[in-house]
Amino acid sequence: MYETPWHKKDISSKRFLVTGGAGFIGSHLVEYLLKHNASEVRVLDDLSTGFISNISLFSENSRFNFIMGSIVDLDECRKACEGVDFVLHHAALGSVPRSIDNPIATHEVNANGFLNMLVAARDAKVDRFIYASSSSVYGDNTDSPKKEENVGRALSPYAVTKKLNEQYAAVFADLYGMNVIGFRYFNIFGPRQSPNGAYAAAIPLFIEGLLNNKPVYINGDGLQSRDFTFVSNVVKANMLALSAPADTVRGQVFNIAAGGSTSVIDIFNSLKKFSGSSLAPTFREERKGEIRNSCADVSKAKNAIGYSAEVESKKGLELTVEWFKSTI
Ligand SMILES: NC(=O)c1ccc[n+]([C@@H]2O[C@H](COP(=O)([O-])OP(=O)(O)OC[C@H]3O[C@@H](n4cnc5c(N)ncnc54)[C@H](O)[C@@H]3O)[C@@H](O)[C@H]2O)c1
Repeated sequence: MYETPWHKKDISSKRFLVTGGAGFIGSHLVEYLLKHNASEVRVLDDLSTGFISNISLFSENSRFNFIMGSIVDLDECRKACEGVDFVLHHAALGSVPRSIDNPIATHEVNANGFLNMLVAARDAKVDRFIYASSSSVYGDNTDSPKKEENVGRALSPYAVTKKLNEQYAAVFADLYGMNVIGFRYFNIFGPRQSPNGAYAAAIPLFIEGLLNNKPVYINGDGLQSRDFTFVSNVVKANMLALSAPADTVRGQVFNIAAGGSTSVIDIFNSLKKFSGSSLAPTFREERKGEIRNSCADVSKAKNAIGYSAEVESKKGLELTVEWFKSTI
């Protein structure tokens, strides 16, 4: 992946910090940046939900550096930001159910850790600070498609932390003139997304079950829908944001999604086809804190940074199944 360059300016003299770079999305950003000759790609990660195996393929590269540390530690954040041009902040504790089970842990990393990173990046005078927000900030808003200006009431502690991130980011842009840019990601999937652990996302769980003939569970009736988005689209958005006009993007948040909506049962059926399985899903109780339908309007990102989805969801599902097959 990532043969096509999406960044608009030469990055061979630029130094990047990817927090959460050992995670699913972060490791794709690292892969792209190394492939396109960034001068340095530094990762700060505590491996709490990420994996060394996601970055071990880069360890031989002299332009790659791994710092094992937590964003909850301000000194660690300062060390990681030293001499960096761009921060792509993706370290967080993901998962709505995790945050419902343990709101304090989620707050510590996603809220306190976020503020630490903002302060460290401000003091290190980085050019841009791009961070991962989430479609969860739309909460109980039922509009479809969702536009950035209309957020609802948060439905989980995770959503509260992402809303708080956006508020801090806007304040840092206003007070300190920081070029802070937020992306509300909508249900991202792709290679390297973990199917393991109590809080794994649906798509890797489905694929894992289908390829290994293990039970696959669908929460609720399966008709809930999401804007499932292949991970390369996220990488593209981050790269476009590096050089978008500062006045247009500073302190702003943008939906990043495929810009369509697919039901969970349709996703399951596509994955079943691509994996060649005949397994039937088991339906179980709906989960708390989940919205029924979610679909993004991506026109703000299109107008401001020239974003459009590069890989549509069906193709992304096929690529993801191929990748999981290759790891068996
Ligand atoms: N995957 C999605 O669908 C999705 C949707 C919306 C937003 N996001 C956001 O995108 C970002 C990346 O998500 P992901 O899906 O790649 O998750 P992930 O769990 O695979 O990656 C997160 C990474 O952050 C690291 N991390 C966690 N706590 C840390 C800490 N205290 N210090 C340093 N590193 C820490 C983890 O070890 C992991 O490598 C997160 O901010 C997440 O909230 C993801």
